[in-house]
Amino acid sequence: MRKKIIAGNWKMNKTFQEAEELISDLLKHLEAHSLEDDKEILICPPSPYLELATDLAQGRKLKVGAQNVNANDFGAYTGEISAPMLKSMEVNYCIVGHSERRKYYHETDESVADKINALLKNEIIAVYCCGETLEERESNKQFDVVGKQIEKALSHLTSEQLKQIVIAYEPVWAIGTGKNASPEQAQEMHAYIRKQISGKFSKDAAEEMSILYGGSCNSKNAKSLFSNPDVDGGLIGGASLDADEFFKIVKSMD
Ligand code: PGA
Repeated sequence: MRKKIIAGNWKMNKTFQEAEELISDLLKHLEAHSLEDDKEILICPPSPYLELATDLAQGRKLKVGAQNVNANDFGAYTGEISAPMLKSMEVNYCIVGHSERRKYYHETDESVADKINALLKNEIIAVYCCGETLEERESNKQFDVVGKQIEKALSHLTSEQLKQIVIAYEPVWAIGTGKNASPEQAQEMHAYIRKQISGKFSKDAAEEMSILYGGSCNSKNAKSLFSNPDVDGGLIGGASLDADEFFKIVKSMD
């Protein structure tokens, strides 16, 4: 079943106490909100707060994801966190391939593919981020760029494994800039991605795939973005740091 997902990517924000308050406030909102089986709400806090988040979210209408993972299971990788560690904390999702990690930590589609494999082995859903830069869009290369990213990171998977993948289309020029993709631009790219999945895997696999939009999504533009047939929700950065604002985005899925 294709799911509609609203995911909050907190990035490197909030102290422990602020994180606790934000999760509690969000849970209060969600308590009174009815959530259909085909909808999921997810927060991805910094890794030191994952256990707090999974504890608070237990039995509630909230899932927890990590923002990064190392491709190795255990070992001498100072500062890193592995998929078995995430699994042991009951983390359900993990973002991979985010443009900030590609830019600042030199991640590539090849290294991201290894991370995806580690997540799949541990039954954690990978939220695979892709998207073009402003320069690439201005030279009309966006489809080529996104097509290649998906090809490199996902084409080694089986159709069964693909069920454990969510794609987030995040144009780099829209992230944190206040300039979101238009609903038409988002729909056009999401339809392209779905068509690519259909060609590479199967029509069924493409129909099942949740494709989220990310990049300056907020409570004002969420409804017009999510009302497109191929936009199955959003990966929300800045606007996920406030419980009221994030919940408004959740409600725009209704
Ligand atoms: P933004 O970030 O909503 O702050 O633009 C989205 C993201 O990077 O996932």
